[in-house]
Amino acid sequence: MLLQKGMSAIITGSAKRIGKNMSIRLAQEGVNLALHYNSSDEEAIELEKILKKYEIQTTLIQQDLNENNAGDKIFKKAVEKLGKIDILINNASIFPERSMKTFTYNDLIASINIHAWAPLQLSRHLYFHAEKGVIINILDTRLWDYDLSHASYFMGKHLLRNITRILAVEFAPKIRVNAIAPGLILPPPGKTKEYLKKMSKTNPLQTFGDEDDVSNAVIFLLKAKFITGQVIFVDGGRFLLGSTNDGTI
Ligand SMILES: NC(=O)c1ccc[n+]([C@@H]2O[C@H](COP(=O)([O-])OP(=O)(O)OC[C@H]3O[C@@H](n4cnc5c(N)ncnc54)[C@H](OP(=O)(O)O)[C@@H]3O)[C@@H](O)[C@H]2O)c1
Repeated sequence: MLLQKGMSAIITGSAKRIGKNMSIRLAQEGVNLALHYNSSDEEAIELEKILKKYEIQTTLIQQDLNENNAGDKIFKKAVEKLGKIDILINNASIFPERSMKTFTYNDLIASINIHAWAPLQLSRHLYFHAEKGVIINILDTRLWDYDLSHASYFMGKHLLRNITRILAVEFAPKIRVNAIAPGLILPPPGKTKEYLKKMSKTNPLQTFGDEDDVSNAVIFLLKAKFITGQVIFVDGGRFLLGSTNDGTI
């Protein structure tokens, strides 16, 4: 399946930051969009206004992914509004500071719901719904070693990494399933660009990326008809060095 004007995509966590950038890039390609968000109502409405000039169909879907049947509800609403769905981007995330010594049951369940269960539900729907489709899961370069400061996040994202590998086999040849593992792209909430500058030493390119770098990888994967089960690191090579080179642990 090649990326074409008139296709439709669901993007989770689309209202801000990296998800917003991906939404604009897909709109530029003529892709209709189901723009999922949770708490960012104003940003989501603003994004839908920005996208008007691309003459695509859009629909806003508010849903907390930390609910058992969140993925089912989102997919149903997206189909009701856009008809056929071709593309799913599992981007939504939470990034709480928690260590292995301190995270709670609820921390773990929230991470699993948002990073794994809702993405899996959405992926299953796409499989049964579409003749051909593409799934892109947004991971994190930290998964290739440790992130001791964000332990519940790390565990939830690891499930998504494994889901990517398994579904790439199980959903083939209908659906291609790939992932992107960003590194330093945007500072976490409460931190500034200084944080990115300080952390730049943790990757071989000694710098940080931006939202466009992630969206470029999204567009590449959407067009890459012979690629499935892959992870593209958008991280300045950070995965080659690992956490031993990372001042955060
Ligand atoms: N930023 C980076 O440098 C970086 C580095 C490595 C990996 N990544 C990965 O790249 C992706 C995008 O990163 P980002 O920094 O742009 O993400 P983000 O701002 O941390 O989160 C994206 C969106 O997830 C949504 N979300 C959070 N909790 C939710 C819930 N309970 N239900 C539904 N949606 C929920 C939020 O929507 P609302 O605002 O509407 O509540 C939020 O806008 C993430 O998967 C992240 O793990 C990012």
